[in-house]
Amino acid sequence: MSHHSHETTLAALGVTEPGQVALLFAQLLAQANADLEAAHSADTFEKFRVDWFGRKSGVLTLVGDNWLKPASQELKPAVGQELNKFKAQLEARMEARRAAIESGAPEASGAKDRVDLSLPGVRRPVGSRHLIRQVFEEIEDIFVSIGFSVVEGPEIETPYYNFEALNIPEYHPVRDDMDTFYVEAAVSSGPGTPAGSLLLRTHTSPVQIRTMERQEPPVRVIVPGKVYRRDNPDATHSFMFHQIEGLAVDTDITFCDFTGTIQYFVKQYFGPSVETRFRPSYFPFTEPSVEFDVSCIFCGGTGVAANGATCGKCKGSCWIELFGAGMVDPAVYGFVNYDAKKLSGFAFGMGMDRLAMLKYGIDDIQAFFQNDVRFLRQFP
Ligand code: FA5
Repeated sequence: MSHHSHETTLAALGVTEPGQVALLFAQLLAQANADLEAAHSADTFEKFRVDWFGRKSGVLTLVGDNWLKPASQELKPAVGQELNKFKAQLEARMEARRAAIESGAPEASGAKDRVDLSLPGVRRPVGSRHLIRQVFEEIEDIFVSIGFSVVEGPEIETPYYNFEALNIPEYHPVRDDMDTFYVEAAVSSGPGTPAGSLLLRTHTSPVQIRTMERQEPPVRVIVPGKVYRRDNPDATHSFMFHQIEGLAVDTDITFCDFTGTIQYFVKQYFGPSVETRFRPSYFPFTEPSVEFDVSCIFCGGTGVAANGATCGKCKGSCWIELFGAGMVDPAVYGFVNYDAKKLSGFAFGMGMDRLAMLKYGIDDIQAFFQNDVRFLRQFP
């Protein structure tokens, strides 16, 4: 028996109301039933009887001594009533059990618990990793093989990490593109952060800051994770999606290291025949900033689909935009006490879902989140 509440008084158990008394007896009855179920023979049945009904130290005697006798005036009637009810219920069950054991009924002998080895087994379907998870691992392997390590950060962020430390002050128009979900928090989340202003991160870039705060250069990390934006869902937009951030900072990192790394990654991921190009772009936390395109995987970069029509995926442009990136803006180093005069580096933020869509020819991002097994089973 594991139940020992009857060895102490109701006062010691903190029981002050009749409702609590009833609960206590219900728990005791459940315990008695479990013990009774375990009695499969005359011997174990007799042990049960002594454990519960034994005159000197049976549970019922102890309940009388510890719960009933010292009970307060208010509780005593309830305890007496519950005790009588309990006794009657248990006695009835015991009688039924005794009869079953004496007649050798199978449920009393425990036969129902036995395993019939001649029956065919139950084959449980084995699940598989979600395609998004598989692609995360594919991408992580490529970057780990060239010296990056994988770090993660919180999905609920402070505006400081999500915006300010990335050189995006409150008034900056770029915040409008990253409208997101704010969380009402009861406590302040850090220095300078008023209560109630946490948000679901809009990109994985805040983990750049968290990483640089934690470690001295050199830094070479990638950051896989979920991000959130108040975007309306369509074939290429979801309000929750996945990014992989990359950050490399050292004393001698050049724009060539940056383009070389990105091109290496893309050829590993899509295969050697894919063409790449950089276009100028703008992010407050990189300077210069680029947008990175690959030649359209669907039409082979010709702009013409197999049926002779204009390729619907790149809309005839021959290129598909993959992600934003750039050399880390020196202003960002100021937020993490890195020496902007000595250090340089690059960062990128890839939309994982779109990378997966391109490689596996999936034309609707929503398929990832609908959990239709007919879709999931295509990527075992
Ligand atoms: C950013 O989020 C920057 N943090 C990227 C960056 C990192 C730039 C480091 C420079 C240095 P952007 O808002 O463009 O950038 O989003 C990056 C990628 O996320 C996009 O290219 C796209 O592939 C993907 N993306 C954006 N919005 C959605 C959405 N609603 N659903 C699915 N994918 C999205």
